[in-house]
Parts: sequence; C-alpha cells; structure tokens
Amino acid sequence: MLSEKGKMELITQISLDIDEVKDLDILLERILTHVRKFFNADAGSIYLKQGDELKFSYTQNDTLQKRLGPDRKLIYNTFFVPINNQSIAGYVAKNRQIVNIPDAYKMSGLEPYTFDSNFDNISDYRTCSILTVPMTNQRGDVLGVMQIINAQDDQGNIIPFSRSDESLINHFATSAALAVERAKMTRNIIMRMISMAELRDPKETGAHVNRVGSYSVELYEVWARKKGISSEEIERQRDTLRMAAMLHDVGKVAISDLILKKPARLSQDEFEIMKSHTYLGARLFRDAQSEFDELAAEVALSHHDKWDGTGYPGHMDPVSEKPLSGLADPDGRPLPKKGEDIPLFGRIVAVADVFDALCSRRSYKEPWDEERVLEEMRVSAGRHFDPEIVDAFFSCFDVLKSISSRYPDDTD
Ligand code: C2E
Ligand code: SIN
Ligand code: SIN
Ligand code: FE
Ligand code: FE
Repeated sequence: MLSEKGKMELITQISLDIDEVKDLDILLERILTHVRKFFNADAGSIYLKQGDELKFSYTQNDTLQKRLGPDRKLIYNTFFVPINNQSIAGYVAKNRQIVNIPDAYKMSGLEPYTFDSNFDNISDYRTCSILTVPMTNQRGDVLGVMQIINAQDDQGNIIPFSRSDESLINHFATSAALAVERAKMTRNIIMRMISMAELRDPKETGAHVNRVGSYSVELYEVWARKKGISSEEIERQRDTLRMAAMLHDVGKVAISDLILKKPARLSQDEFEIMKSHTYLGARLFRDAQSEFDELAAEVALSHHDKWDGTGYPGHMDPVSEKPLSGLADPDGRPLPKKGEDIPLFGRIVAVADVFDALCSRRSYKEPWDEERVLEEMRVSAGRHFDPEIVDAFFSCFDVLKSISSRYPDDTD
C-alpha cells in the first residue's frame, strides 16, 4: 500500500499525464485506468453529462476482460441515465454528492436511489462496493460522474471503499473534469475547423469524421499489437492518429459545390478535380510544426493511394503539385505509391474511410449490406488495401460495429 505522501505524489504525476492528452476518448480511458489502479478497483465507468442526461461513456472491468482474453475489447452499449434521484449516478450528478456503497446488494432500502443489477445479470458479474463521485469544474458545473467498483485488498478480496478514498477520489474527479473540459474544447475546435471551412459535402458529417477517426485508431491498435509494438508507443500514437484521420478529407473545402454535391456519378474530368482534395488537404499542414501536422498531412495526401499502385496521387509534392524528384513517369506524372511506400496511417485511414463509405448512404448510392461490404473488404486485401490492415479489420469487426452504432448519421 502507498503512503499518503506517495499517494499525493502519484496524483500529481497522474494529473500531469492527463494534461498531455488532448483527445477525449483516449483521455477517459487513461483517467479510468489510473484511478482504478490507484484504488485497486476491479471495474469502473465514466458518465459524461450530455444535455440533461448522463451518457455512459466509458467502462473497464478487469474480471470481464480476463474472461475475454487480452486481445479482445469489452463491448459496451452507450446508454443514458436521467439526472435524478432514481439511479446512483443520477443522484450523484443531481446532488453533487459522493456516494459510497459498501455492498450494492445490501443497501438499507432507505436510499432514494436503487442499484440497477441489470448489468450484473447480463454479464454474470457481482458488483459489491461502489464509489461514485461527481466530476465538477471550478464553477461547480457537473460535467459527469466517475464510478469505481469493487475495491480489492492486497489478497484480492473485495472490500468497501474507505473514508479517505472518498476525499482522494474527489481530487481525481476535479482534475479529470478540468481535463475533460479542455479536451472537449480541442475536439470542438477541430470539429469547427471541419465545419467552418465548409466541408459542404453532405456526407462529410461529424458522424462520418468521428467514425473514420475511431475506426482508424482501432485498426492501428490491433495491427500494432500483432506487430509487438509497445503499449506506450500505441498509446502515444492513438491521440494524433484519431485527429489526423478525422481531417483526412479536409482538402474537400477547395472543391466546388457542383462536384461535391453532385447527386450522381462524377464524370472523368470532375473526378480528376476531386482527386486534388488529397494534396490540397496536405498543403494545409505544409509548415509542419508538430508531429500532428506531419501526420495529418501524410493522411490527407495518401488516403487514396492503393496497395497495388493503382490509387492517387502517388509520389507528388503537395506544394508544387509536381512529382517528387526522380519519381516521375515518362509523361511527367508522379509514379504511383504502392505497398509500404504508402505511409502506415494512410493505409489505415484508407480501410477506415472506404469501409465507412460502403456502409453509408451516398447521394448516388444506397448503403451496402454487411455481407457485401465484408466481401469487398476481403477481395480488396492486397489490391486496394494493405493485407495486414485487412486482417486487423476482420479481427476487430465487432468493435468497429459498436463504434458505428455510437456515431449514427442521423443524430449528427
Ligand atoms: P467517399 O464517397 O467518402 O468515398 C471514399 C472512397 O470509398 C472512394 O474513394 C472509394 O474508394 C470508396 N467507395 C465509395 N463508394 C464506393 C462504391 O460504391 N463502390 C466502391 N467499390 N468503392 C466505393 P474515391 O473513389 O477515390 O472517391 C473519393 C471521393 O470522391 C469520394 O469520397 C466522393 O466524395 C467523391 N466521389 C467519387 N465518386 C463519386 C461519384 O460518382 N459521385 C459523387 N458525387 N462523388 C464521388
Ligand atoms: C463536421 O463536423 O464534420 C461537419 C459539420 C457540419 O458541417 O454540419
Ligand atoms: C467507385 O465505385 O469506385 C467510385 C467511388 C464512389 O462511388 O464514391
Ligand atoms: Fe478522400
Ligand atoms: Fe471520407
């Protein structure tokens, strides 16, 4: 067990660590991991306030994760909880009060809230101790609720959370709330950059952008784990990959509405113009100031290159629109990029983007059914796509589907 001093030091370090994360999903995951480790809690969840409800946004559970095996992800459904006294999380958010329950199945019955045993029943889990804390910012607004479940002693026995745990978790919840606020702001700025720049293409919605971002991170994680890349490195890359993937089509801002919104197939000339969205997007990040700028440029430029060399724009310098030196064909056009010439994140976003396009309605096509989409992904391995990324796609298809249901088109 850590001393009080050791605990405070760890908290400070965790706060710094959280400060560095700019992406909300990744932030929530990291916060929860830290907090659970700190309190030796088997499980935990974070609810974020959305409108006048709480959205069940993130969850971890070591016991269920062990049953599933290390390479699989817990699948969870997003659901909403009203902010009122009926549920534990609702009560905590409404009254801005910590609730510390020693055993969920031995409550006095006098509490205004009740424990919902639905999750336990479905997953064959036994919730015992629960510590639930409001996440409030400095103004006192509730941004969400953090809940940790089943504290364990050093022998792994489930024990109640202590009094001192209550004040300690408060500290976490506050710093998490601030970080969530900041992360939301960054995400909002990116979303505004995408919408203000008038990506008027009706299909380039916030939902599409979010799905492509999340799919890409998932594909990368699965691919990288198979490659034996360290979890620190994976963690480090996820943040920037997600945002870079979200901006893959930002170059479409420069494409005329006539082409962008055409409710029919494009002519060859129109498609030639459409292709420019790759290098026009890359050009926005040309004065690469950060690793993120560099990645975002790479993704914008190369997400339509194909593994077999039949994609575009190939080895082109986005600024001069000329082939990179020594990489022109006899007609002076850029030689195609193929295989690992194409940057990894370009290869990943290609899979994520096409998968999403095939599953979605377009002004000129209906969504494909799942079987047809999967067949297309399968036959595209080694042609359009890097076969290893397609392998990753099939390994995590269930997770991709749950991502898709979290970002439906109509609630955009
Ligand atoms: P997008 O609609 O987001 O599609 C992204 C990529 O998904 C496409 O890249 C293509 O590789 C794949 N894809 C989308 N729909 C289909 C499909 O029905 N069948 C197959 N096999 N693949 C599909 P691509 O072709 O380079 O197109 C880039 C962008 O150009 C598209 O992004 C879209 O904005 C525009 N575009 C392409 N063709 C048309 C068209 O016929 N009409 C209109 N209005 N826009 C088009
Ligand atoms: C987006 O956020 O991707 C576009 C939002 C919009 O223009 O409606
Ligand atoms: C295609 O079918 O290859 C064209 C892509 C599209 O329809 O967007
Ligand atoms: Fe594109
Ligand atoms: Fe796209």
